[in-house]
Amino acid sequence: MRIKMTKSGALKRIEFLCEEINRHNYLYYILDSPEISDAEYDRLLRELEELEKKFPDLVTPDSPTQRVGVAPLAEFGTVKHTIPMISLQNAFTEEEAREFDAKVKRFLHTTQDIEYVAEPKIDGLAIELVYENGIFKVGSTRGDGETGEDVTQNLRTIKTIPLKIRRQKTEDRGQRQQDLFSRLRTPDSELPTRFEVRGEVYMKISDFNNLNKKREADGEPPFANPRNASAGSVRQLDSKITAHRPLDIFCYGVGITEGIKVSSHWEILETLKSLGFKVNPLIRRCKNIHEALEFHKEIEEKREKLDYEIDGVVLKVNSLRLQEELGEISRSPRWAMAYKFPPRQETTKVMNIEVGVGRTGALTPVAIMEPVEVGGVTVSRATLHNQNEIDRKDVRIGDAVVIQRAGDVIPEVVMVVKSKRTGHEKPYVMPDRCPSCDAHVVKEEVVWRCPNVSCPAQVKESIRHFASKGGMDIEGLGYKHIEQMVDKGIIKDSADIYYLTKNDILGLIKIREVGPEVAKSILAFFAEERNLKFIDKLIKGGITYEAEKTKKGGPLDGKLFVFTGALKGFTRDEAEKIVESLGGRATTSVSKKTDYVVAGEEAGTKLDKARELGVKVITEKEFKALAKGV
Ligand code: IVH
Repeated sequence: MRIKMTKSGALKRIEFLCEEINRHNYLYYILDSPEISDAEYDRLLRELEELEKKFPDLVTPDSPTQRVGVAPLAEFGTVKHTIPMISLQNAFTEEEAREFDAKVKRFLHTTQDIEYVAEPKIDGLAIELVYENGIFKVGSTRGDGETGEDVTQNLRTIKTIPLKIRRQKTEDRGQRQQDLFSRLRTPDSELPTRFEVRGEVYMKISDFNNLNKKREADGEPPFANPRNASAGSVRQLDSKITAHRPLDIFCYGVGITEGIKVSSHWEILETLKSLGFKVNPLIRRCKNIHEALEFHKEIEEKREKLDYEIDGVVLKVNSLRLQEELGEISRSPRWAMAYKFPPRQETTKVMNIEVGVGRTGALTPVAIMEPVEVGGVTVSRATLHNQNEIDRKDVRIGDAVVIQRAGDVIPEVVMVVKSKRTGHEKPYVMPDRCPSCDAHVVKEEVVWRCPNVSCPAQVKESIRHFASKGGMDIEGLGYKHIEQMVDKGIIKDSADIYYLTKNDILGLIKIREVGPEVAKSILAFFAEERNLKFIDKLIKGGITYEAEKTKKGGPLDGKLFVFTGALKGFTRDEAEKIVESLGGRATTSVSKKTDYVVAGEEAGTKLDKARELGVKVITEKEFKALAKGV
């Protein structure tokens, strides 16, 4: 029997669903600790969508269904910032950073330590969010600092931007949050009448790489860097396009905040967190400039491992009273400074353009350049992506170019410095024959491909892929070996690796785990008739498969370990063997399933990941005790 829902019943249910979905969004996107499965979440969202379809006048602007974008605009409106969005003074050396601290002290006539809040400087796009009575009303870009563009509809699509300020029921709050909420002068049932939040919209490097891969596959020009990708996405006239761009935000400050009592910048950040805004987890309160400089060093070391671009550290005097006293000078606050990192872009010269042939036969032009140091690494090759990109950027041999390196992104040519042209630069056209096997190249949209499956370059790349860490993880089989063996005719495909004799090469063929992504491509591979012949060849070559042997009932029975950093007492291999001999398993990547991460000296990203996921981290000594069963 179906009971028809009354409008007042629907309203109650809609209110409940909105609140519940917003709570789950907060748990998932901000705290990164979901309480329900994706399927359950989808059910709640679908129920809300259906109810809203039946009762369209009950749809509110803060409903979680209202994040999909609206009809395209002809142009953006403008928004005047109530308080101008001024920019920061920069420091490039430690000396300049110390001088900033000295100036602050001189201005305040004090010799006492100044407390700072140190924050990573996110390389994205500055925006402001205005909330009225707790509801997100207007979002704008910084523009010229006084007036920005109205990008409200685009910002609504970013899941980490709350459409409604989070308000917890009193009984749900712990003491810490009670304390924070006592800063809100407004009663519990009301929200601040006007609340302005400032932050940086950015794109994760991994999301940026995926977006660019997809754009290239669709024949669209790739974005030059994550910052351009986020700026381009926020400044999209069609918010439905923005809704499909993986944008994120870190909030770092406020404008007008009616009804909020705070006395320090740190409290502002804590309040922002408690109200449901995403604040960078690396922020730190520093007792004095020495601690702040230490923070700069730490963050610079972490920079490579972060999945978002930062270009420095921002230091802000913590006390709001002191901030007010310090005031501004030439449109920058005296109380804050950006202590920048060395740039990731440099200028160099293109000596030649070579073409590489990938595993799938795709031809990629690569600029061979005068070696130059970019962000601490020497770079002499940069991808030019394809002929379209060469034409679009008009890159010629002999050109001075700006190149860029960002995290794990392959170095690339950003633009040509045309003012440096002498007239001797040579335009480049991709060859119509494969540089490796001379086959005629096939042009598929922007991708030029060598169609010859036996092309030595493709074979080498395919064997490299097969043997790589993400594939069969054949230790000790580097590209140099593969190249030599293919060139000498010792191997012709991946299966031949298993026919190698002692004389061909020593010390190969340990096969490690295959991850889910590789498993998928292996499945697709083995589904092909002609590849079954390949398996036959493997089997004839002596490959057999054995189930993993684990010792049941051992002290580490069923436990999953990951080792990171340098161990003192044993090699990584020895430690892994100990785990396996005692009934456990050792893998190379940390996930929620990992029971222990054993951290040696100079442990890196795996340690960060373990902390992020709440996986237990133990020392080498503790591991030894565990292994002994004590
Ligand atoms: S504070 C008056 N904090 O850097 C203080 N800015 O010129 C204003 N930025 O485009 C900015 N991360 O959007 C601040 N943690 C951070 C930041 C940050 C990135 C950007 C900001 C602006 C530029 C400052």
